[in-house]
Amino acid sequence: DNTEKRYTIGFSQCMMDDVWRQAMMVEMNIEVSNYENIDIIVMDAEENNHKQIRQIRELIKRKVDVLIISPNESDSLTPIAVEAYRAGIPTIIADRKINSDEYTSYVGGDSYEIGKMAGQHASSLLPDSATILEIWGTKTTSPAIERHQGFIDGLDKSKGFNIISIEGKWRREIARDETEKLPSYENIDLVYAHNDVMAIGAREAIIKRDSSLIPKIKIMGVDGAFGKDAGLEAIADGRIDASFLYPTGGDEVIKVAMKILTGQPVEKQYILEGTRIIDKPTAQTLLLQSDQLINYQNRIEQQRKNLESIVNEFSILRHSLILILLL
Ligand code: FRU
Repeated sequence: DNTEKRYTIGFSQCMMDDVWRQAMMVEMNIEVSNYENIDIIVMDAEENNHKQIRQIRELIKRKVDVLIISPNESDSLTPIAVEAYRAGIPTIIADRKINSDEYTSYVGGDSYEIGKMAGQHASSLLPDSATILEIWGTKTTSPAIERHQGFIDGLDKSKGFNIISIEGKWRREIARDETEKLPSYENIDLVYAHNDVMAIGAREAIIKRDSSLIPKIKIMGVDGAFGKDAGLEAIADGRIDASFLYPTGGDEVIKVAMKILTGQPVEKQYILEGTRIIDKPTAQTLLLQSDQLINYQNRIEQQRKNLESIVNEFSILRHSLILILLL
């Protein structure tokens, strides 16, 4: 009977200490809780390619039924992802891409489209010859490359913008430190960061040097995640001016895994819909929705704990019964 069979999904996450990825985890857990026969093993590589390779090797050894990989850096993680796929484990690549088509399915947002929207929006806000500070995510990851290329293609070429670029490696502190190294902020009109946490980091550097510049500089990020110090909160409280939604796909990735496990055909690529600009009113609405999601997740978590304690009591009872019998 198919419904009785238990399945294990292995999830190799490049880093967990990040608001967008925590939102992804909430969405995955809610989706997982819809099925009774699914276990999920999550491994956090803490942004370390070697660690992620070791963890994927471990998941292959454990013979997980489906493997989900959100790779840290494309080049370094490609061989091990291909190895898993060749070992016969259905492999889903999430968010960042690998440099091979030897995987079962890819699930992720449209970073090129996001970049393009950001470029068009920046063009509409800025006068001719304005200066843009572009803060890159890690240059060896596909979302950074696509968010850059889309941005360049979306910019109005006739306006002759000047672009300064630095690499913030997807991190708030690195973006802050790299921004601090710039000799002057005087002529910066707009900051385009490849994610919201780097946008927040850049703002901190600008405030530290000269807070009177803040009203003159537009700050844009990408992601629009919920959670403490994430994009939605920062837009709602005015720290950043706008963001572009990059859905985490946490629920979608589990749905694709379930399709594979139940023998249904899957697409090679699921490019997530929902790319759009998030301004202040939108952020406020989305924040309310995400509160509901978090409440829902907490309720599920509580139910799971209740269930566990029932099961524990039951097994204590059983053990004492056995003891009584033995006596
Ligand atoms: C989180 C993150 C997100 C970004 C994605 C790109 O680790 O940096 O902010 O959208 O990864 O892979």
